[in-house]
Amino acid sequence: MTEEMAQARRLVAQAGRIVVLTGAGISAESGVPTFRGAGGLWKSHRPEELATPEAFARDPQTVWEWYSWRRGLIAECAPNHGHLALARLALGDTPTTIVTQNVDGLHTRAAHEAAGDTDPSPALPVEVHGAIDRDKCSLCAVRTPGATSVDTSSHASLPRCATCNGMLRPDVVWFGEALEPEILSRAFQVARDADLCLVVGTSALVQPAASVPLATLQSGGTLIEVNIELTPLSAEAEVSLLGPSGELLPELLDAGPAP
Ligand code: APR
Repeated sequence: MTEEMAQARRLVAQAGRIVVLTGAGISAESGVPTFRGAGGLWKSHRPEELATPEAFARDPQTVWEWYSWRRGLIAECAPNHGHLALARLALGDTPTTIVTQNVDGLHTRAAHEAAGDTDPSPALPVEVHGAIDRDKCSLCAVRTPGATSVDTSSHASLPRCATCNGMLRPDVVWFGEALEPEILSRAFQVARDADLCLVVGTSALVQPAASVPLATLQSGGTLIEVNIELTPLSAEAEVSLLGPSGELLPELLDAGPAP
């Protein structure tokens, strides 16, 4: 075991309350592509170009094509050892809240898998960017379960709201849109209350989520980062564990008493 891992395990063992912030990197080993870095582009589009209300107004077919492709891909994926280690942590004795920027639902599936016949709710994530498997009406905002495969063959075939006939869109937060105020304030509250923040697989570039760990730091807590590369948050972290989260999280969280 590396000295960094030993130190990180001591910090976890000593923590009274933990917040976890995850990003796309935690799902990379499940086969869900990240947004940035290697494999981060889809048909040479950047997420900042497609995941916007303007892109949807201009070209809903292309935006739906991207989301339909992602829904299909995610439906084939399963939680990995990183999701499961976090779910077991949150179901354990130290109060822990998982805050995720991911819309893929894999933390929720891990919570159910790890809980078995017991209550999964302590391990259910606060999803600050929404959920890709839900639709939201762009007119009346009603939310409904979304189809895994959307017919994007023409503008007329795109999904419509059963209540008001408005255009349905994925229930995710796009660039330029505000996050749900209650969800956001819950994320920052649990970050302030925590004395340890575990930041996993996020480039820490997209605000306001990237500031969640800073709330823990500002209230006197510490930060552990798990990522395959350094990020803008690394300088703030007490320990940076460099490597894939599917391997490092079980070693960090499951390996018995801290050294
Ligand atoms: N283990 C740990 N970290 C990994 C792994 C892995 N196996 N693979 C990749 N990473 C790291 C990358 O080094 C990078 O820092 O995951 C991070 C992924 O960064 P992004 O793709 O930018 O994802 P994220 O930070 O979640 O993006 C934030 O941007 O497009 C929006 O709304 C979208 O929620 C998303 C937000």
